[in-house]
Amino acid sequence: MKIAVAGTGYVGLVTGVALAHVGHNVTCVDIDEEKIKKMRKGNSPIYEEGLEDLMRKNKERLTYTTDYKKAYSDAEVIFVGVGTPERSDGSANLDYVYAVCDNIIESITKNVVVVIKSTVPIGTNDKVEEYLNSHVKKGIHISVASNPEFLAQGTAVRDTLYASRIVVGCEDDLARSVMEEVYRPFTQDPYNVPYLTMNRRSAEMVKYASNDFLALKISYINEISNFCEEIGADITEVTRGMSYDKRIGDKFLNSGIGYGGSCFPKDTKALHYLSVEKDVELKTVKACIDVNKHQKLHLFKKLKEDYGNKNLKGLNVAILGATFKPGTDDLREAPSIDNVKALLDYEVNVSIYDPVGLDRFEKIFGNSINYYDNIDDCIKDKDVVMIMTEWDTIKNYDIGKFSKLMKNPVIYDGRNCYPLSIVSQYKVEYISMGRKEVHNI
Ligand code: UGA
Repeated sequence: MKIAVAGTGYVGLVTGVALAHVGHNVTCVDIDEEKIKKMRKGNSPIYEEGLEDLMRKNKERLTYTTDYKKAYSDAEVIFVGVGTPERSDGSANLDYVYAVCDNIIESITKNVVVVIKSTVPIGTNDKVEEYLNSHVKKGIHISVASNPEFLAQGTAVRDTLYASRIVVGCEDDLARSVMEEVYRPFTQDPYNVPYLTMNRRSAEMVKYASNDFLALKISYINEISNFCEEIGADITEVTRGMSYDKRIGDKFLNSGIGYGGSCFPKDTKALHYLSVEKDVELKTVKACIDVNKHQKLHLFKKLKEDYGNKNLKGLNVAILGATFKPGTDDLREAPSIDNVKALLDYEVNVSIYDPVGLDRFEKIFGNSINYYDNIDDCIKDKDVVMIMTEWDTIKNYDIGKFSKLMKNPVIYDGRNCYPLSIVSQYKVEYISMGRKEVHNI
């Protein structure tokens, strides 16, 4: 099928490439010339494992362009995968979605199915369909389908090809049959992805309800973890004990310094905003947002308590990990940003290591901190290490080097990278999340 995809961010580009991989002819549209040039050379504008391979493998079926008119007028289906960032009041900003709608209205010459992949507030698909049809040339009909995305950054390619499920919300037969055709290859060998159809509002809600549930799970375990610190329990043991109950499972129970990224923070706030607007506030979602806000600085608070406000000034701190999670260079809502800001407020000297996120970090903090692309140099002669992201390079780091290289081997680990039984064998001070502290110096 001839498919156009609007937006070449994580959602748009990965979707477009995956659709090409299963045999469709896909045109990826973006307004950013530089990105388009890069993609034409087979290079991905985002760091995502396996994506460039797939772009190159399927290059005959992939076109990249800024010429939306041509792309949309040729297409049988147009996917919309542009951003829906958070406004200052927490609501979702739909400007980019409507900008694509205007381009579609201007371009199409025949009936088409428009698929909203972007995460949008419940009821948006209805409004978009109404908007499109009331502005498009007479005689043309546009059917809108909701098709939320469930990929996670870092595993985006696998999550799309071997998705946990494909959710499609439709209100008419054209959209229903076209979407079945688009996704047929994914429902067959070797992918065998479950394909679920429902009405559009339910599909929109599946996305928010899923993300907010996962965010809630993290906030819950973070609160339990903080409580473990107070009562002398060990969160790793507690979650291990919980996970044998299949109703709870063992996923998304890692306590840490809060969730970040482009999805959970935005989607919890957007759903909460919507519920307040409807006068039926989702109180659990509100609690989840509040807990996460505090959790991001939980590690810093421990440092502050241990050193006292005054003694933080001039302290040399090495931060290990900048990105909001491993496997991505994305810094959106990364806890490292809040922590570095807090440290700088107290005039701490900050150095940071990250395997892929330093360029973006430098854009935020400029020369107010020091940047290192290897851990040895970053921690050398430092007073304190703070771990913000559980990259493999950090998890597999030789713990013996902390005492060899640092001035004082004091480690605050926000991601519980090392088992206590191992850390205890070294001459370090080790303060982690929801576990007992190790004081070996
Ligand atoms: C998330 C969801 O996992 C995807 O299913 C969804 O499609 C995506 O949002 C989206 O809406 O587009 P993502 O934000 O890429 O994906 O990353 P996650 O792996 O979910 O991690 C989010 C945050 O939660 C990270 O900061 C991570 O460190 C944190 N986290 C995750 C924890 O603190 N503990 C855990 O046990 C798991």
